[in-house]
Amino acid sequence: MRTLNSLTKLTLAAVLIFASASACALSISITSDPDNRTPVASGTTIDVQLTGVSGTISVSNTNATSVTATKISSTSTKSIYRLKGVSTGIANITFKDSKGKATAYLKVLLRQGTLDGRQLASNCYQCHGTNGTGGFERLLGESYSEIYGELVELITEQEDEGEIMKAHAMGYTDAQMQALANYLAQLR
Ligand code: HEC
Repeated sequence: MRTLNSLTKLTLAAVLIFASASACALSISITSDPDNRTPVASGTTIDVQLTGVSGTISVSNTNATSVTATKISSTSTKSIYRLKGVSTGIANITFKDSKGKATAYLKVLLRQGTLDGRQLASNCYQCHGTNGTGGFERLLGESYSEIYGELVELITEQEDEGEIMKAHAMGYTDAQMQALANYLAQLR
C-alpha cells in the first residue's frame, strides 16, 4: 500500500510538471537560433507572434540602431510585435514574461539589389575614412581578395564575436561584399 502511494505521488508530480511546462512556455513564431539569424531588409518590417504569454512582457534589444520593436496588438496570452530593420547590423531582441523568455535573432541587410559598390562603400567611410584612408583600419591599398576575405572571416570566425565590424559585416549579402571589395580595391 505504501509503495503504491509513493508511486501515485510520483506519477502525479510528473504529470503536473509536464503540464505546467507545456502550458506556460513563452514561444515565438520565428526561429530562435543565434546561428541562423532571421534576415530583414533595411526599411522593411516583419511581424512576430508570441504565444503562451503570462503576465506582462518586457523587451530588451541589443542594438536599437539596427532594429526597432513595437507592440502592435495583444491579448492575455498572445502578443504581436513589429520588428523594423533600420540599418545594417545584428540585433538580439529578448521578450521576457513572468515565466520565461524568447529571443529573436535578426540580421539587417541592405535591400537586395543594392550592388553599387560606390554607394555601399560610402557606409564604411565614417569609420575607415573617406575612400578607406584611415580611421580604425586603413582599407585603401588592399586587394579585392584581402578585403573580401577579411569580411568573410569576420562573419565566420568565433573570436570576433561581439565586435563592431562583425556586426557591420553581417549586414551584407555575399554579392554585396563582393561589390564592396571590387570597388574599394580599385581606389588609389
Ligand atoms: C562603425 C564603424 C565601422 C564601420 C561603419 C565599418 N567598419 Fe570596418 N572595421 C571597424 C573596426 C573597429 C575594425 C577593426 C577591428 C575589428 O573589429 O575587427 C574594422 C576592420 C575592418 C576590416 C579588417 C578586418 C580584419 O580582420 O583585419 C575590413 C576589411 C573592414 N573593416 C571593412 C569594412 C567595410 C568594407 C565597411 C563598409 C561596408 C566597414 N568596414 C565599415 C569599424 C567599422
